[in-house]
Amino acid sequence: MLYNDCMSMLIEFLEYIDSIPSKSLDDFLDRVLSKIRKLTEAEAGTIFMLRGRNPIKWLEPMSIQNDKIILLQKKFKVALKDQSIASYVCQSGRFVVIDDAYQIDKSMPYRFNANFDEESGFKTQSILCFPLINLDGTVIGVVQLINRIKNGKPGIFTRNQVDRLISPINHIVGRAVERAHAVEKIAKKNKRLKERNRQLAEHQKLLEREKARTEEAFQISINLLAVAAELHDEVTGNHILRVNEYSYILAKHLGMDQKFCEEIRYSAQLHDVGKMSVNSAILKKKGALNADERREMDLHTYYGYEILSKNARLRFASEIAYCHHEKWDGTGYPRGLKGEEIPMSARIVQMADIYDALRSERPYKKEYSHNMTYKIIIDGDEKLDSKGHFDPRLIEAFKQCHMDMDRIWKDFLDKQ
Ligand SMILES: [Fe+2]
Repeated sequence: MLYNDCMSMLIEFLEYIDSIPSKSLDDFLDRVLSKIRKLTEAEAGTIFMLRGRNPIKWLEPMSIQNDKIILLQKKFKVALKDQSIASYVCQSGRFVVIDDAYQIDKSMPYRFNANFDEESGFKTQSILCFPLINLDGTVIGVVQLINRIKNGKPGIFTRNQVDRLISPINHIVGRAVERAHAVEKIAKKNKRLKERNRQLAEHQKLLEREKARTEEAFQISINLLAVAAELHDEVTGNHILRVNEYSYILAKHLGMDQKFCEEIRYSAQLHDVGKMSVNSAILKKKGALNADERREMDLHTYYGYEILSKNARLRFASEIAYCHHEKWDGTGYPRGLKGEEIPMSARIVQMADIYDALRSERPYKKEYSHNMTYKIIIDGDEKLDSKGHFDPRLIEAFKQCHMDMDRIWKDFLDKQ
């Protein structure tokens, strides 16, 4: 083979290696083997990759090609300990050139295994076997070429081919193989990560769905609790729903944060839940309550706190239940809290509750119009001292959103 021919073949080969898209390692190895066989005129060939870790290592055929027979691809391993040619090349890092596989000198450290020929009917003659070397100079695999066919006739592999064709490229091929292997490993890892991410997203969705269901169940439960408490009271219908909505609107106009607004929207309805623990004879008494009865009635604030404060999600509701009868001037009950001592949530629900009570018909009073109710809340009347009752900021908020409260009243009117 002429030097110039060798050079042009090598350049063509290197360009080829460089241009192969790293689709998959198998595909890459198939193409590389095919090109090496073309370079060396080999009838058949195998690329083995070194697998395993010390002390158990083996060679695994990754690409097997044969122009003569149809191969039934079999998964097999070549143990490094055996005396095969590929195993020897892998361990020694040397090139092996054999003219006739059946005439190997017994002094050689390797043997030809004729099993394949016997099973397939193929006839192995010449062999060229060389290692694939990575960047560190470590053997990562072996290329075994079988039967050189020169001008259509059986030939032999030569030292000239080794020196001019194989020696210059086996490092490059080794590195390219290692690179393709690394790319494939990364691709597989990416695929696993993508799948993992997909599963995580799926779990996240499931969790969110479960969370929404739990939240829905929670909202239903507390609504039922509020409805159950109403049955003990003179108040019925949509009172609790309206108090929720008034409280939300007032909280918004006070500039409370969204979490607070959302929380008060479902907590407000529980403000009188403690009435469940008050003697029903007192609750249903038509006439005025005596001092003992009044004391018991006023305890509904404390009972409500006791019921609700045991649950972390209902702590907010428990402070409303406890403090919604406190007054800004400190004349309320049960503890006579004053001004800022009263939680803002309770100050809001108190106004919402009073607005709804004024609008509603009761055994002892008629239903008031919105304008009448507005006037009482802003200026007070003989029964309600507005300035003593309400936080001044709340009165200002009411002035801004009273029309919304009227709309809520109309939207949630009690059925006659
Ligand atoms: Fe109350």
